[in-house]
Amino acid sequence: MQPKVKSFFDEATNTATHVIIDHQTCRAAIIDSVKDFDPKSGRTSTKSAGEVVAFVRAQNLTVDWILETHVHADHLTAAPYLKEELGGKIGIGSKIQAVQGVFKSVFNAEEKFAVDGRQFDHLFEDGQVFFIGELQARVIHTPGHTPACVTYLIGDAAFVGDTLFMPDFGTARCDFPGGDARALFRSIKKILTLPPETRLFLCHDYAPGGRDYCWETTVAAERAGNIHVHDGISEDEFVNMRSARDQQLEMPKLILPSVQVNMRAGELPPADDNGVHYLKLPVDAL
Ligand SMILES: [Fe+2]
Repeated sequence: MQPKVKSFFDEATNTATHVIIDHQTCRAAIIDSVKDFDPKSGRTSTKSAGEVVAFVRAQNLTVDWILETHVHADHLTAAPYLKEELGGKIGIGSKIQAVQGVFKSVFNAEEKFAVDGRQFDHLFEDGQVFFIGELQARVIHTPGHTPACVTYLIGDAAFVGDTLFMPDFGTARCDFPGGDARALFRSIKKILTLPPETRLFLCHDYAPGGRDYCWETTVAAERAGNIHVHDGISEDEFVNMRSARDQQLEMPKLILPSVQVNMRAGELPPADDNGVHYLKLPVDAL
């Protein structure tokens, strides 16, 4: 089974949003959407996500699922906007509860903020099977970048989130709260034991060396050429490389706004008594 995939790339956050289509039934899922956010003005917009909405409408698709591979730290999700416009259920891995627990205290979120994942319509367990029309999808828990990361395997296509990048860019950082380089290596091995021709769809690309943006590769290409985890690299070699590299990385530009919103399934924190929603910036706390 080779589902059709239409991808949208947001250059401002280097994020790829994927629409997975079951042509038999005209049903679809949307993975890892983007709500535009300008940190200078605090303004949001739905320009990027609006392109996805226009595509779905033009193709006469019914959206079954709006899926997140994880709580993103570099862009805001547009899941609530997509749900309002197109319908569908918002899903994420069940380990989101651990992520919410950590960030509830980091941001000293309101007492009422629940850390049981209830803000999402569905929490997926490892191995759970679900359907997009007649396409069968399976959830693979792939922690490491965050404890809640999942991969969605739909036919011959795996949507790996930030578990892997294109072979020439390697792998995702593991230094956010709850990240674990050893866990990431083991998660990557789960993906790389899928059939070699499995298509891998990534959440990000950074176009190293000035090449064109690209967000699709294969298990075979990653095993042959991923600069961090090609065949032959040991777990200890990977962990040492990843840990050393992560110490050099700056925080993503949008990490503070992104996490506060994405841990709420894309909703803003409750408005203040003047009706305005505020995001917090913890000082010297991280
Ligand atoms: Fe991420």
